[in-house]
Order: sequence, then C-alpha cells, then structure tokens
Amino acid sequence: MFHTPIVPRVRKRSKPAEADVPRRDEVKFEDVRLYLVERKMGRSRRSFLTQLARSKGFIVEDILSDEVTHVVSEDSQASSLWKWLKECAPKNLPNMLVLDISWFTDSMREGRPVAVETRHCIQDTLPTLPEDSPPTPVASVSPYACQRRTTTENNNKIFTDAFEVLAESYEFNEIEGPCLAFRRAASVLKSLPWAVQCLGATQDLPCLGEHTKAVIEEILQYGRSFEVEKILSDERYRTLKLFTSVFGVGPKTSEKWYRRGLRSFSDILADPSIHLNRMQQSGFLHYGDISRAVSKAEARALKNIIDEAVHVITPDAILALTGGFRREKEFGHDVDFIVTTPELGKEESLLPIIINRLKKQGILLYSDYQASTFDMSKLPCHRFEAMDHFAKCFLILRLEGSQVEGGLHRAEGDSRGWRAVRVDLVSPPMDRYAFALLGWTGSRQFERDLRRFAQVERRMLLDNHALYDKTKKEFLAATTEKDIFAHLGLEYIEPWQRNA
Ligand code: UTP
Ligand code: MN
Repeated sequence: MFHTPIVPRVRKRSKPAEADVPRRDEVKFEDVRLYLVERKMGRSRRSFLTQLARSKGFIVEDILSDEVTHVVSEDSQASSLWKWLKECAPKNLPNMLVLDISWFTDSMREGRPVAVETRHCIQDTLPTLPEDSPPTPVASVSPYACQRRTTTENNNKIFTDAFEVLAESYEFNEIEGPCLAFRRAASVLKSLPWAVQCLGATQDLPCLGEHTKAVIEEILQYGRSFEVEKILSDERYRTLKLFTSVFGVGPKTSEKWYRRGLRSFSDILADPSIHLNRMQQSGFLHYGDISRAVSKAEARALKNIIDEAVHVITPDAILALTGGFRREKEFGHDVDFIVTTPELGKEESLLPIIINRLKKQGILLYSDYQASTFDMSKLPCHRFEAMDHFAKCFLILRLEGSQVEGGLHRAEGDSRGWRAVRVDLVSPPMDRYAFALLGWTGSRQFERDLRRFAQVERRMLLDNHALYDKTKKEFLAATTEKDIFAHLGLEYIEPWQRNA
C-alpha cells in the first residue's frame, strides 16, 4: 500500500482529470520519459500522478512507445507485469528501466529523477524466450578486447569516462595494476550494445573487480562518483593532466615540473631554468590548434596533401589512413598514415621525400624524423608496449581551410584561414605492412589484448613487425590483417569494431 503526504491517493472526482484544460508544463528533464502502468494503479490515480510529474517538469508518455525510458508500476508482482510488458512488446523494452513506484515518489519528493538503485528495479522473472523459439544462450563477453566488437557508439560513457580518470590518476602515480584494471573494465563496458542500468546487469561481465563495481554503484546511485570528483579537483592530477596535454611533454617531465612548484603554462614559460626541447617548443607554440580535435574532413584533406606529395615522386607508393580515423572515429588527436612501396628497401626514402615536399609547399610547421632501426634478426621482441622500429615522422602541418570540405574544425571566433594539425607517418617495408597496419590501427586497448591473447592463449608473440610462434619456433607470414587474425585463431574484427 502506498501512503505518503506527497503523493496522496486521489478521491474520486466528479470531473475526470483528462477533461482538465491541459496546462503547458515546462519540461526540465529531456532525457527522461516516463510511462505509468495503469494496471493495479487505476485510471484516476494514474492521471493524477501524470499531472503531478508533468507539473514538476517530467515528460510522461501516454502510450508505451519506444521513446519511453522509465516504466513505473505499482504492480509488485513482477511476473504479471513483465508478461504484460512483453505482450505490449515495445522494441526498446530491453533498454527501459522498469521501476517500482518508490522510484517515482522519491523523484517527486526531490523534484528531479533520482538515480536508479537496485531496490527500485522490478526484475524480469519470466523465462527470456517463448517456448517455441530455439534457446540462444546469452552471449558471454570475452575478457579479451580482440574477441569483442566495439564500435564508436559507447552506451556506457558515464562509467567509462570515470574509469579513464581513475586509470590516468593511477598512471600518474605509476601504479600499474589498478590502472590497467580500470582500462580493461572501461573497454568491456564500451563493447556492450546496452547501457548498464543496475549493478545486477554487470554480474556476468569479465574484468570488473570490486573497486570498479563500487564506482559503477556510486554512479548508478548518485549520477556521479565522488572518488572521481575528488581526483578531478586534485591539484597534482590537474597539473599533470594539463602539462601532459602539451605535444612532447610526457608524465616524467610533467612530474619534474610539478615538483619544482610549476602549476601553469605561464609558470613554465616564465622559468628561466626550464629548457624546452624543439618538440615542446612547437607544442606550446601550436597548443591551441593541436589540443583541438581533428575532424574526419580534415583527415581526408591531409590524406590528399600527402597523397599528392608522395605520388609525384613515387607513383606506385601505397598510402593508407590508419589510427582512430581508420576505426571510423569522427574526431582524433592526430592523423596517422602508413606509407610504403612494393619494392623492398625503397620505402626508406619515402619519408624524407614527403617531408621535403611539404617543406617546399610551406606547410611543414614541425618535423621529427626517425630513420628505421628495423632489423628482422633482432625479432621477436618480448616487450608489450615497445615502440616499433620502422622509419617514422611526427609532424605538425599547416592545413588551409580551403582544402577542407565543410571548412576547418576551429575554435569559435578564430578567423584564421588555417590551423595546425598533428600528423604521424610510419613507413614499414612492404612485407611487414599487415603487421604495421594492424598495430597502428589501434585502439591501444585492442592492441594490448591482441598481444596478451597471442601470448597467453596461443604461445605466440605479436608486435608491429611480426608474429612468432613459440611452439613451432617460426615466424608466421601475413599479407593482410585477416591472415594475422587467422594465424591467431581469432574471428576477424573489422577496423570500425576495434574501438575497444
Ligand atoms: P594514436 O595515439 O594516434 O591513437 O595511435 P588513435 O587511436 O589514433 O586515437 P587519437 O589519435 O587519439 O584520436 C594509433 C595507434 O598506433 C599505435 C598505438 O598503439 C595506437 O594503437 N602506435 C602509435 C604505435 O604502434 N607506435 C607508435 O609509435 C605510435
Ligand atoms: Mn591517431
């Protein structure tokens, strides 16, 4: 029974509520669409509660459409409620929160939708499938990112953003275990085609430990994590985050500057004892531009520029977009390309040629070229995160707005006709192309798990150069990424499914 002074049961009125002149209530909570189940509640009470919620800025739908996010019921008999819901069969039912009236009364009392807790949820106790359809077991989620398909659509951003802050904070303190644990947990949640709406839903997921679950629970309950908020306001974290956002400044340098008492860019630039290397100088010089995301259209424009630069001299050169843009991300922090040629050895001259041409065009703002140190006889490499040995260059290029379809992705009020963009080029020999492409497509977490999977499950070593079978004591050849997945006994995962 339901007794509270805030939401009293209405007495029978002579005039049905529906006949009231509808008032236009101001909508305060765009993302929440309620549906009140009439069964058990009764028509007049439903109508009263509907008006009450609308007067407090909630959207209440009259019918159970796919727009509904929160279904509220006074029917505590889960089985009969769920039977009815499934008969109504809205397509989006799996994503709806099915809640007890206590969530509604709490929300009315607070004047806002309160965070959903497990006690509010009315769990589905029915068998999931009708008898005549074949039983399909709930697909279990693999603990390896390379066995999951992860698109750019993240249904659990609220949790994964929080985990990323925690992981980074551990990284700044060089505490590797928990850092990796939070990155793995974030990656698992990113792969889910549904949003986690109560802790029970995470029960069968891999890589979620006690700490991660506590954070999830806090967010479910309060809409935020106090632990994360504490980190975000922590001076050390904020300073290291700021310093490492500069091109050429890593955690070590940031830490050194922090220990010296430096807290801002002006502190650094005003300190005569600080020596900035060439990369860092460019990092500060172009900070505004290169800390701003690069758009897909800008990435395409850069591809045209590099394409032109390389093909003038080497008509048979191969140029491929890699990194986040190959995974079909809309925005990135830089643009990554692989460039090579079919003739082995000739790829070594490609980058200097491209760099020269960009310089002549007046668009090379910064260039750090590293010649190849690749030596097949030094393989296989046992270190996971080791940089590869291919020739590569880290560039900052000047991109003209006129070259970008739809214009530059620029700060508001910036009227310059150009912007600076970070570009990475890597140039492996053609017989290493598939490994380099797989390694540079990312994501970082996908790569980590590919290597871990190879090592742990297959006794193989994988890096950007090669795949080595420790049992057979031999290298496995590959001309395409598909060959590598096949050697590893993995289903092929498309680049756009590697956003782990
Ligand atoms: P990025 O750091 O460019 O990341 O590395 P991203 O996925 O493109 O995302 P953005 O740029 O932040 O939007 C791309 C991939 O290249 C590998 C990384 O491991 C990552 O998977 N990489 C990068 C290397 O293998 N070696 C390097 O020297 C640099
Ligand atoms: Mn990138």
